[in-house]
Amino acid sequence: MSEPTIESILQEQRLFPPSAEFASKCQIKSLEDYQQIYERAKADPVAFWESIATEELHWFEPWHTVLEWKPPEVKWFLGGKINISYNCLDRHLQTWRRNKAALIWEGEPGDSRTYTYAQLHREVCQFANVLKQLGVKKGDRVGIYLPMIPEAAIAMLACARIGAPHTVVFGGFSAEALKDRLLDAQAKLVITADGGWRKDKIVPLKEQLDLALAQNGVPSVAQVLVVARTGQTIQMEPGRDHWWHELRVGISPDCPPESMDSEDLLFILYTSGTTGKPKGVVHTTGGYNLYTHITTKWIFDLQDTDIYWCTADVGWITGHSYIVYGPLSNGATTLMYEGVPRPSNPGCFWDIIEKYGVNIFYTAPTAIRSFIKMGEHYPLARNLSSLRLLGTVGEPINPEAWIWYHRIIGGGHCPIVDTWWQTETGGVMITPLPGATPTKPGSATLPFPGIIADVVDLEGNSLPNNQGGYLVIKHPWPGMMRTVYGDPDRFRRTYWEHIPPKDGQYLYFAGDGARKDDQGYFWVMGRVDDVINVSGHRLGTMEIESALVSHKAVAEAAVVGCPDEIKGEDIFAFVTLENNYQPSDSLSDELKQHVVKEIGAIARPGQIRFTDGLPKTRSGKIMRRLLRNLAAGQDVVGDTSTLEDRSVLDKLREQDH
Ligand code: WT7
Repeated sequence: MSEPTIESILQEQRLFPPSAEFASKCQIKSLEDYQQIYERAKADPVAFWESIATEELHWFEPWHTVLEWKPPEVKWFLGGKINISYNCLDRHLQTWRRNKAALIWEGEPGDSRTYTYAQLHREVCQFANVLKQLGVKKGDRVGIYLPMIPEAAIAMLACARIGAPHTVVFGGFSAEALKDRLLDAQAKLVITADGGWRKDKIVPLKEQLDLALAQNGVPSVAQVLVVARTGQTIQMEPGRDHWWHELRVGISPDCPPESMDSEDLLFILYTSGTTGKPKGVVHTTGGYNLYTHITTKWIFDLQDTDIYWCTADVGWITGHSYIVYGPLSNGATTLMYEGVPRPSNPGCFWDIIEKYGVNIFYTAPTAIRSFIKMGEHYPLARNLSSLRLLGTVGEPINPEAWIWYHRIIGGGHCPIVDTWWQTETGGVMITPLPGATPTKPGSATLPFPGIIADVVDLEGNSLPNNQGGYLVIKHPWPGMMRTVYGDPDRFRRTYWEHIPPKDGQYLYFAGDGARKDDQGYFWVMGRVDDVINVSGHRLGTMEIESALVSHKAVAEAAVVGCPDEIKGEDIFAFVTLENNYQPSDSLSDELKQHVVKEIGAIARPGQIRFTDGLPKTRSGKIMRRLLRNLAAGQDVVGDTSTLEDRSVLDKLREQDH
């Protein structure tokens, strides 16, 4: 683990309070309102969460105990019975929202669809009935490997409806990465599409799945359900593969929701860690429903007429919590876009905002930086006056990007919510509330009510303001992950042991460095472990190293992050070769392609540097700090006395010039 560096702490002083007019229309209208709610929640978290659970969600049966906390094991709303698809759909049908748009979808080639709550409910019920017909039962895991089409949300809700935990795998992951995840989750059925549109090309999803399942690669998978999207020819294996549009014919649009225990598994989502394979983050039903519901409601200050657009992919937690579950649980209109900005259509986001009159727009700093690069003439050519609130997520936002976003996209009048959270936290943890919190560019500001966050040293001591340390959470919250799927020990080690309990209080270790300023605002500085953040995508350096050494030419590999203007960080790999191989550009390309095959295009190293040796300590540990310096083109700083062989470093430095 590396120390958070003080140099990287932003020293931004500008303050942007919400306008009085904006604040007056919000649910939480002032900093005093926020503070009052925050203090009430802090004084009695159990009473706070209980009252929200009662007011905001439908429960089939009440809980008998709000919280059971046997660190690190946590349970919320014990004994409560609930179904998140009921809260996202059925309960709205009894209100005027029945015919309100639930999901607006825009396809990359320009096709579009809109589902009202009543229509979405029918689709989900039919989908759920087809899953049942294929033998899926409560508790069976279902893999979802789909493009950004309405069926992705429909499939998730259908799984939730029948109590089959889903595991969504991002469509950009390769067959190998997909296989690892399906194996770990022991999926019984996989939902995929013939293909999906991305950057004017078809992503051949079914073909990738066929590779993953070839030679009985994932023995647990008995059935595959295929959605027709792109229409190209694919192989359909008789008995295993089925078309959704064929099976749905004549299927009942009625499917009563399964009564789920609050702590029943809702989904597994894989994310990268410091060591080993990606871990399956486990989220359960009641707490996740509650936490995503209330964070969506307050952070985006949802109003009934809002068109809300989060640009994430449903393959990531942001898509789960803030495209599908949070917005629908609130009865909002959520917009989904299949594509991404691309050379043939760099202005596509602004076209969509104008076309649908989007009011709330939630995206990532890396996207904002690429918009800046493409040029402000694209957004300025569109009418973006419908926007009233902007959000960002995924990595620290640099103040320049924040200011550009505020001025050019927000017309200078939209508050920006910079939301800090993680796959593990289920929902947003540190964030402004738009009508209450004066914002500072680059700071995620203050913890959400019910969240006790702090910055501590490695012994768990609270640090004074303005001192860099480790970000921790001190009290359980309903949306927190419950365990690592199939590996409770890894859960304990990763999140609860780096920093020991302090005075009997367990501290959730987030893996981020941070500091608090004099107003108690949090400034998140990035990961302190061997996780890198490339365009808001989280990757473990070890995963990429394992991919590299699985190539026959590679003897040893060390991967570090290096600063990148658009992506935030890029992947820099140091590679030593087996004796009979020579460094060359073509080998470098081959290795990059090999990583794409093993993991996916998001893990393609930006640069590979061949070297005769890696700088190691006498005990054989690679000195990553030195490699990070070299990758950033900086001089090596700090102590190098523990190096086993100094000449290795000297040679690497020479290569730099
Ligand atoms: C890591 C979690 C949660 C959705 C997207 C990423 C970084 C996330 C912020 C932010 C500074 C941020 C952290 C965190 N991160 N949001 N607003 N400011 N850093 O989820 O893949 O689980 O990654 O993303 O480093 O630990 P994830």
